[in-house]
Amino acid sequence: MMLSMALLNVVAFAAAEAAAPAVVPKPVSLERGTGAFTLDDATRVTFPAGDAAAEAAAAMLGEALRPATGLPLAAGPGSEGANTIHLRTEETGLGPEGYRLEVAGDRALITGAAGPGLFYGVQTLRQLLPAAVFGAARAEGTVWTVPCVRVEDRPRFAWRGMLLDTARHFTPLAFVKKFVDTLALHKMNRLHLHLTDDQGWRIEIKKYPKLTEVGAWRAETLVGHYTKKPRTFDGKRHGGFYTQDEIRDLVAYAAARHVTIMPEIEMPGHAQAAIAAYPELGNVSEPLPVLTYWGVNPNIFNPEESTILFLQDVLAEVADLFPGTYIHIGGDEATKEQWEKSPAVQKRMADLGLEDEDRMQSYFISRMNDFLKGRGKKLVGWDEIMDGGLGADATVMAWRSVDKGITAAKAGHDVVMAPTAFTYFDYYQAPAKGEPLGIGGFLPLKKAYSFDPVPGELDAAAAARVLGAQAQLWSEHIPTPEHCEYMAFPRACALAEIVWTPQAARDYEDFTARLEEHLKRLKNAGVNFRPLDK
Ligand code: ACM
Repeated sequence: MMLSMALLNVVAFAAAEAAAPAVVPKPVSLERGTGAFTLDDATRVTFPAGDAAAEAAAAMLGEALRPATGLPLAAGPGSEGANTIHLRTEETGLGPEGYRLEVAGDRALITGAAGPGLFYGVQTLRQLLPAAVFGAARAEGTVWTVPCVRVEDRPRFAWRGMLLDTARHFTPLAFVKKFVDTLALHKMNRLHLHLTDDQGWRIEIKKYPKLTEVGAWRAETLVGHYTKKPRTFDGKRHGGFYTQDEIRDLVAYAAARHVTIMPEIEMPGHAQAAIAAYPELGNVSEPLPVLTYWGVNPNIFNPEESTILFLQDVLAEVADLFPGTYIHIGGDEATKEQWEKSPAVQKRMADLGLEDEDRMQSYFISRMNDFLKGRGKKLVGWDEIMDGGLGADATVMAWRSVDKGITAAKAGHDVVMAPTAFTYFDYYQAPAKGEPLGIGGFLPLKKAYSFDPVPGELDAAAAARVLGAQAQLWSEHIPTPEHCEYMAFPRACALAEIVWTPQAARDYEDFTARLEEHLKRLKNAGVNFRPLDK
């Protein structure tokens, strides 16, 4: 039988209508009704007078929809009604990050118990519109319809994060903000900023200006893979840092999108940029430059009282700048050879009655933990902070393996799962031959999606210690924002679903089918994702 083109089009349209909308991360419950709500010049965005959380979410909705639609979407206090998108704070039983979204033929209603839930309802509504809504310029001729749906949604985990390494390559502030936007679209809520390392110190500290005057700049950068010998360099000075005003601006920008920025100040290892600025913080007498190549390096902070007080001064300024509860103090890959060789460190250990270097590090970390607690903050560190003993109130970020997270959870620590095998997005996502140079590893999308942050062997009490998961974008081999996005997406879409959607509702085939549509959104948003393999 021959079908006319017109009839074929009708059939195709009906099929598209019937398909479940391609929302990423997949909502807990999405029921498709019949029909659609079409936005037009008269559509208003309303919220109850005095409902500040709904007003803020309405502002974000207008900001997201106006550029591409060109619709006025006049916003103001008002009630639910025909041709409105109404937002309202209301107890939903879905927690502060949960929301309900109901779209009928002539209206949409978003309810949430608090600001985050309302904001996530807005993110889902954006994804129900044609993908053209994500463009920065007006998309003429698009009909702005939203299918009739009823969505009830809430996240699986409280910690839904990504790490940006601003130290190995300086990350321009405008890109950090764009990254926050893309995280928020995926209902992610933590951005871990790795701010200090051997190759650069990226945050202004008023009390110690040389940290950025000296520490934010390196003479040049290694060319090629970090293992390649002999080393060759590009001869170009590289660096940059965020002023405290810029940090405040970024923190506010992220907060408006319900993303908490967690700073990381590395200690005692990954410290060479700071030691280059203030040599008395180190263990050797010769001056050190800001490091120009990659890898684990022996120049770590000494554990003298003066160094501990210096770093507490730094943390005091950092704690004042970042309103979030958690401060990350690093703690990874601090090789102890300089401490073993240093008479001063050996005397310090003897004076304190500490029998080995792991206990010296444990003491160092405990001093930071006590200091942060005194400021109402919680310490997070990479899993090596457990070596030599760790206060139960410290949170462990398990990177070397899932097993480290299991050990930490069983010992009563809160845990963020960040294992190399599943969450190191600096690893290759396809065979290296067709990809830009990377650090190594192999983490294709399917493997990334297969991760479950709660391993089966945890009992209910230990499982409840898993706050969530995050992925890492270490930037040794990721020098530009475009490359960073290429490594992040679409694997971060998979991660978003891992940390948001109930495990039983996740399915890789279903995810990749939705991803086809979702990547159109990212394309329109100007995100340089890696295309799916055909
Ligand atoms: C790490 O990758 N060294 C945390």
